[in-house]
Amino acid sequence: TAAHCLRKFDNGTFYDPDEIYIALGAHKLTVRGRLEDRVPVREIYVHPKYNKPHVRLWAYDMALIRISRVGRFPNASLPACIPENTLEPHDSQTCIVAGWGKTADSDYSNSLLQAEIPIVSRADCNVKRYWDNYLDRSMLCAGSVRPERSSCQGDSGGPLMCPRDGRRGDPQQWVLYGVVSWGPIDCGDKPGVYANVAGEIKWIK
Ligand code: ARG
Repeated sequence: TAAHCLRKFDNGTFYDPDEIYIALGAHKLTVRGRLEDRVPVREIYVHPKYNKPHVRLWAYDMALIRISRVGRFPNASLPACIPENTLEPHDSQTCIVAGWGKTADSDYSNSLLQAEIPIVSRADCNVKRYWDNYLDRSMLCAGSVRPERSSCQGDSGGPLMCPRDGRRGDPQQWVLYGVVSWGPIDCGDKPGVYANVAGEIKWIK
């Protein structure tokens, strides 16, 4: 997930494992699914460089949550793979972002939604009219401005997944390359920024 999702609004400390749970196979935000598997959390690891002095704000916006038992993954939910090495997805490759965040007509979506968005190279994202060199290597950029396709407020911590090209006949595999982190308030007018999972694979492992 994103490190900023685990921070408490009131005092900036991070949630403890006993204050949160993981809902596997959840689909509606306000209704507990009949098969939804709620799993207690055993450990939380926030990236050691997140929000540290001399590290820019929003860099390394990443955290790991260890669940307390094997999940059941109901309702056709499945875990995504983590990248095998530090290779990032290709520019303009189409990936999928999912979440319950803000849509064109509501502050959040009650049903889980997904959108296909292209990976944008760090160089293209760092141009002046977009993020003017704010992105470092702990960040990944994705989304399209015309047409506007983007994650938005409330999607944070959610997955940016790209298909792994498998051999013919292999089942499709999805690789988690990004975690929704930040972007423009209006969401579609600049590309969105994601924590770069492949870049931190050593820490993750
Ligand atoms: N920081 C936001 C959150 O906490 C996510 C923003 C994503 N924004 C965007 N324009 N892509 O939910």
